[in-house]
Amino acid sequence: MYHIPENIVIAVDGPSSSGKSTFAKAIASELGITYIDSGAMYRAVTLFCLRNGLIIDGIIDIPSLIHRLNQIKIEFRFNDTLNRLETYLNGENVEDEIRNVAVSKFVSPVSKVEPVREKMVDLQRSMAKDRSVVMDGRDIGTVVFPEADIKLFLIANEEVRARRRYDELRQKGINISFQDVLNNISDRDYQDSNRSISPLAQAKDAIALDNSNMGVDGQMEWFRKLLDSKYGKKQKNESQD
Ligand code: DC
Repeated sequence: MYHIPENIVIAVDGPSSSGKSTFAKAIASELGITYIDSGAMYRAVTLFCLRNGLIIDGIIDIPSLIHRLNQIKIEFRFNDTLNRLETYLNGENVEDEIRNVAVSKFVSPVSKVEPVREKMVDLQRSMAKDRSVVMDGRDIGTVVFPEADIKLFLIANEEVRARRRYDELRQKGINISFQDVLNNISDRDYQDSNRSISPLAQAKDAIALDNSNMGVDGQMEWFRKLLDSKYGKKQKNESQD
């Protein structure tokens, strides 16, 4: 048994397809806490742009996007059948659509727009009020929750990440070449790491885990040891003092 703090916040950051969501979901299920996918929020904004003509010839109309930000309402609702939170854009379930290739292509430039980030960060913080969460993203440990109880930073080599994403897309019946997936991942890595606002970065106090050769079971074994060292034995010793 661990003595986990009330309203614990666990931040899981890392580049695209580094296995953040799989790992974060496994952590949420182990601890019985809420998993929040912050990338889904940026994806929902991107979908709004695509649907509303705010991306023309591959260029984002930033002034119009900023002007219309107050028309974008993003929420998460629990799906009892699938046992997960799903993303809603202005009342419509867009959980599947936000994973499509067009959204993946434009989400990095959309997520660079400062007022977009401000709005998403507010939403992310509000979702962690009064509840324990594990949230994955790019800036969760650095910007959204600099005081998070546990900060993890996942890494995996680019080929492994592209292979994971490729398999996932093929399984969904999406016909795309491995090279296109690899290009999208390298491009997003570059854009996410080099933007001026809240770039993808490992927080100083984050623990890095290279999961290139690890499955989710191995990662959870590693995580349980971490929990034990932080909230297990140490706490028991403290209570004996
Ligand atoms: O985790 P993901 O691949 O679904 O995220 C999609 C994009 O959203 C990613 O390329 C960068 C952006 N993002 C971000 O800028 N900050 C976050 N906290 C999460 C995602």
